[in-house]
Amino acid sequence: MFITLEGPEGSGKTSHIPYLVEYLREKGYTVFPTREPGGTSIGEQIREVIHDLKNAEMHPRAETLLYQAARAQIVEEVIRPRLKAGEIVLSDRYADSTIAYQGYGHQQDIAQIRTLITYATGGLVPGLTALLDLDVEVGLGRKRKADEWNRLDAYTVEFHQRVRAGYLEMVKQEPGRWAVIDAGKAWDDVQNNLRKVVLESLTVSEA
Ligand code: TMP
Repeated sequence: MFITLEGPEGSGKTSHIPYLVEYLREKGYTVFPTREPGGTSIGEQIREVIHDLKNAEMHPRAETLLYQAARAQIVEEVIRPRLKAGEIVLSDRYADSTIAYQGYGHQQDIAQIRTLITYATGGLVPGLTALLDLDVEVGLGRKRKADEWNRLDAYTVEFHQRVRAGYLEMVKQEPGRWAVIDAGKAWDDVQNNLRKVVLESLTVSEA
């Protein structure tokens, strides 16, 4: 099964994934964690270009296409082969990030972006997407403190508010695929909720 984690900046996805993976492995599942952009040698090189604070002149369309290039590579090199082998692939971000950030955030045409995503992924859609939802100012504050500031974090607060609203809109459009988790709660509560929704969905997919 293909599972993705999404959320606005500072929502804590990256800190939760290792514990979720450990929990699922203890339950006997074979889990392969990965992240976007990145997860392959080519993807990690693209990630550096996209996130480099020096590349301030990057046009939103160039940004959109770079994400799709990294995604096409990871889908073919990592995700599809692992899924074929029966593993659970757990990705820290995937195509919904492009709709949220480049579509809603940069206010580019979402229908065109969806076409690009279908091209990049060959139509691979996750079975479950967990949204770690968080107030934008709280999330950006966490990232500043952690000293993990990148070029996208430096976009305006309004940009990040559109990203969050975009995620919530996507949940409304496709409620069967999404699970919303309140990432403003204590870390342990967030982790327990995440474990619950992932386990439930694995159980359903096995039935
Ligand atoms: P993160 O891994 O620290 O969350 O950084 C990834 C950044 O890239 C984050 O700001 C969201 C952004 N992003 C997009 O804008 N579009 C995408 O398609 C993906 C995968 C990430």
